[in-house]
Amino acid sequence: MALPDGRRLSLRVSEGIHPPDPYASAFAACFRVRPGDRAWDLGCGAGGYGCAAAALGASRVLMSDLDPAAVECAVENAGLNGLEGVSGRAGSLFAPARGERFDFIMTSVPQIPAPAPLNLIRYGGSDGLHFFRRIAAVAPAHLRPGGRLYALVTDWPDARRVAALLEAQRFRVRTIARVERPFQPVEYDRMSPGLFDYLDARARAGHGKYRRRGAWCYLGVSLLEATVR
Ligand SMILES: C[S@@+](CC[C@H](N)C(=O)[O-])C[C@H]1O[C@@H](n2cnc3c(N)ncnc32)[C@H](O)[C@@H]1O
Repeated sequence: MALPDGRRLSLRVSEGIHPPDPYASAFAACFRVRPGDRAWDLGCGAGGYGCAAAALGASRVLMSDLDPAAVECAVENAGLNGLEGVSGRAGSLFAPARGERFDFIMTSVPQIPAPAPLNLIRYGGSDGLHFFRRIAAVAPAHLRPGGRLYALVTDWPDARRVAALLEAQRFRVRTIARVERPFQPVEYDRMSPGLFDYLDARARAGHGKYRRRGAWCYLGVSLLEATVR
């Protein structure tokens, strides 16, 4: 993973852990990091965003994930890159840092809409917004005044709906980066047979969107910066 100043982070990804996305470097370059900031990578996976925050000047970074193996992998990656001030805790959403406040929180939680029965480790509920509802409601209590939430949001749940959820709480929201990710429908059907038809039907009904060009489809992915008022 590349940093804006040309340095590179080496990230090892253990089996079963989500690898950093191809656009992770571009998104991490958009974080506003002030020297001494305290940051939280919530749903850290292999820890790419948390490592980038530490390398860009955050003095303390918490990596958390529901999966203890992901936390271990993320903390190892921080060590591999000689980054200091990084710690890890396993647990769901905000539980690992009850009562603690941060200058910024980065999150890319599960958000693919999926029909019932719902597996909330991989998917974001029937509309993809399950985790974002909770994040919008609880994140302000974990941010210092003027603190920032960086949320990676795909067009499956629809970044505009996530922005509306955040704005209904105490956030001012801007889209600070956006990419289009190429995919083929089979990618989703390999996750769960029939999943693509479900996503396609939702998109046709105006819930979420993607575009098709030939054999390929394209999904928008936004990085939202939500500043607590
Ligand atoms: C799409 S991956 C993103 C990983 C990493 N942030 C990245 O961008 O590469 C979502 C991560 O959220 C974690 N996760 C799922 N449910 C969670 C929960 N309830 N609380 C915290 N993390 C969760 C998963 O284990 C997974 O590592």
